[in-house]
Amino acid sequence: MLRAVTVFDILFAMDGFLNGDMKGKVVIVTGANAGIGKATARQLADRGATVVLACRSKERGEAALGELSCVDGRCFDLMRLDLADLDSVRAFAAAFTEKYGRLDALVNNAGILGRHRELTRQGFELTFGVNYLGAFLLTMLLLPLLEKSRQGRVVMMTSIAHGWGDVRFDDLNFTRGYNRFAAYGHSKLCNLLFTRALAEKLRTRGSRVTVNAVHPGIVATDIVVNRTNDRFRWVASLMKILFMTSDEGAKTSVFLACEPALERVSGEYFYRCKIEPSSEASKNLASANRLYDVSLKLCGLDDPLKS
Ligand SMILES: NC(=O)c1ccc[n+]([C@@H]2O[C@H](COP(=O)([O-])OP(=O)(O)OC[C@H]3O[C@@H](n4cnc5c(N)ncnc54)[C@H](OP(=O)(O)O)[C@@H]3O)[C@@H](O)[C@H]2O)c1
Repeated sequence: MLRAVTVFDILFAMDGFLNGDMKGKVVIVTGANAGIGKATARQLADRGATVVLACRSKERGEAALGELSCVDGRCFDLMRLDLADLDSVRAFAAAFTEKYGRLDALVNNAGILGRHRELTRQGFELTFGVNYLGAFLLTMLLLPLLEKSRQGRVVMMTSIAHGWGDVRFDDLNFTRGYNRFAAYGHSKLCNLLFTRALAEKLRTRGSRVTVNAVHPGIVATDIVVNRTNDRFRWVASLMKILFMTSDEGAKTSVFLACEPALERVSGEYFYRCKIEPSSEASKNLASANRLYDVSLKLCGLDDPLKS
């Protein structure tokens, strides 16, 4: 839809609104070897943060590390994380905690658009497992470190696709009527509901940690490409002509991780660095709390926020 260009749009395009010095801060970006995640990692490092690239593939992670580290002063580390395996999530959280002992921002960026119905190592539908459940467990395991920070932040990558439906509590794993787009939208709604539930629980407990969700825009990345055989590479090339670059797509995630004015803003849905309305289903706190409880059970986790 066409709309008038505002001063904000010009500032957004020029980076003119971005504040926030990240010197001395430690940040994790999941899926940081490609697309929006790689751009997010680069922009955060350019603001002075030490950025841990949490990547599932050693080769793709090392390639990104080499490319990103080529500018003096940027500080990166690479650690292995496969969100399709909850044991890998636990191992990552333990290794990270041991190595760094502090965390200022967690950017849950990694995500997939599945091709056909596949399962994670623990038997969850892959899109639900990678985009939502793995990120849920990672966040819960790292909360103690975020609470030690002066003002810890969680950034949850969602999408405008969150509005395509409601939570399928009776079939979270899409055993019936699998459709890759429906599964994707469902996982992104779960991310947004988790944002709402967690923000509310942290607020009640008087925690300084905030959590906000982001739709990056329609961004020309390789999310549509089959990584194993390069199928649909032409779609990604076509997207480059029509849609936002990864650097533009990363701006709202970076804004949520850095902006000092957001210290008390939590549980919101952002697009282009502004709070935007989200779907009715995504505002249902009862549903958000139910999903939170179910997710704890699926991960075999005791609620770390239970008083
Ligand atoms: N592009 C858009 O228009 C758009 C719109 C709305 C929301 N988003 C969201 O933005 C996020 C980033 O997507 P993108 O467009 O930048 O896509 P991308 O270029 O395909 O990047 C996705 C990243 O996630 C990683 N990843 C996939 N499965 C993983 C797993 N099991 N464990 C750990 N990491 C895994 C990928 O690693 P590999 O390289 O190893 O596969 C890659 O680094 C996603 O959450 C996506 O849903 C994108």
